[in-house]
Amino acid sequence: MKILFVSPEGLPFSKTGGLADVVEALPRSLVESGHQVAVLLPRYKGNQAARTIVPSMTIPLGSMMRFPAISEAGTFEGVRYYFVDDPEYFQREKLYGDKSGDYTDNARRFGELSRAAIEFAKQVWMPDVLHCHDWQAALVPVYLRTLYARDPALESLPVVFTVHNLGYQGLFLRATLSLIGLPEELFRVDALEYYGKINLLKGGLLFADYVTTVSRKYAQEIQTKEYGCGLEGVIQSRGNRVMGILNGVDYSQWNPETDTNIVATYSAKLMDGKKLCKKDLLSTFQLPAENMKRPVIGLVSRFVDQKGFDLIAEAAPELMKEDFALVALGNGDAKYEKLFQDLAKQYPSRVGVKIAYDNVVAHKIEAGVDMFLMPSRYEPCGLNQIYSLRYGTVPIVRATGGLDDTVEAFDAKTGKGTGFKFEAYEGAALVKCVRQALAAYTDLRQWRSLQANGMAKDFSWKASAAQYVKLYEAAKQSRIQAVAATSNT
Ligand code: ADP
Ligand code: GLC
Repeated sequence: MKILFVSPEGLPFSKTGGLADVVEALPRSLVESGHQVAVLLPRYKGNQAARTIVPSMTIPLGSMMRFPAISEAGTFEGVRYYFVDDPEYFQREKLYGDKSGDYTDNARRFGELSRAAIEFAKQVWMPDVLHCHDWQAALVPVYLRTLYARDPALESLPVVFTVHNLGYQGLFLRATLSLIGLPEELFRVDALEYYGKINLLKGGLLFADYVTTVSRKYAQEIQTKEYGCGLEGVIQSRGNRVMGILNGVDYSQWNPETDTNIVATYSAKLMDGKKLCKKDLLSTFQLPAENMKRPVIGLVSRFVDQKGFDLIAEAAPELMKEDFALVALGNGDAKYEKLFQDLAKQYPSRVGVKIAYDNVVAHKIEAGVDMFLMPSRYEPCGLNQIYSLRYGTVPIVRATGGLDDTVEAFDAKTGKGTGFKFEAYEGAALVKCVRQALAAYTDLRQWRSLQANGMAKDFSWKASAAQYVKLYEAAKQSRIQAVAATSNT
């Protein structure tokens, strides 16, 4: 099968979060099982292109025309990479916005990406299925089933739309519709209209043949008021066209046996290296070596509300009474950067913080800490806790979304389970759960078996990629039926 991925970010070129990991690893896994995959991304600052394929593509956006080039970045691990190359739109300091907020022309930027993806399919590489990711690519199904609905080359082309995070919807003023070249007629409740604005994610949810999200539990949660971010009704309306497929992990990148970012490799059988990694981590964070005898808890994250930092703020005074050290890596909202900086000031010998985005340090943390904390308010999948399992680092998580699907609560009596979970989004529940983990840590034999349980888990992409292939087939069939139905009327 030929599959075209359309995404606003993807490794090895661009990344702000887990989406980029997925857009690298899933195509590789599909190629390994014999499929052909091309990935279309915006060409951001620093992205090297190998050659130009289309020097100027004509993209109408309302009364305006854009003329991006399409360039080829190369083939890596069998996956072909292409860029939509429009320097004015994409060669900026950041991907989606700067300190003063989101870039104000984001609808047009990603409208261009989406329309260019459809033209790319027509002119350069026609796939059997289009797979689009997040609100920035949600206009692909919208354009395809409206402006392009009568295009004979495209009417039977199926689209799968994956929501990696329902919290980011692409909300814009009504007037934006014409700026992205869509008819006013789409400003209706069963299309893009959303409380007087337009909602691009909603368009993707409604116009795609199938909608997926990145864990089974999150697929259920987003149908409820609590987690639906106002779109629960829309999601419910798609019935069995919505499903959860759990993300996998690229173990060629995240494996303590082969990781080149850490000072010593180790495996479930030979754990000595983990101690060296802990020592190295403490010196990276300039924490005294006396912390070797304490459990160290780690955290790597975008600093945003989703990740549960208000809970950490609430629980901190109580938590810090316990005997552990904390290392945190991340950046984002100023209030959370300050939260961790203040903790480091208050507990300089036990708390280390790096306000940065740093892949090497992220690996050092996964390897060097004893426990990994993810108290997310919601978590579509979450990758760090899955990386932790492989690194013999025990996750402490809130039982939501993918965190709940990937971490099994440890039961000291049976010795089964891989981590610690709590349900209620309350500081006290977090404190109780951390205390359980700290208590388990004092029993070395018990701790070793807990680590071994996690390290034995296999979250490689193979099984999930096979589920996507099944879904692509179903999307193809449903398109054939839809086309037959319209030609009969
Ligand atoms: P999300 O996509 O919501 O940010 P995930 O857990 O799915 O959450 O993925 C986060 C990815 O981004 C992981 O690969 C993680 O290691 C990485 N990451 C997040 N913050 C940082 C950071 N400050 N430095 C390095 N890597 C980070
Ligand atoms: C999103 C989610 C995260 C998920 C990632 C990749 O950014 O917040 O939970 O793992 O996408 O699907």
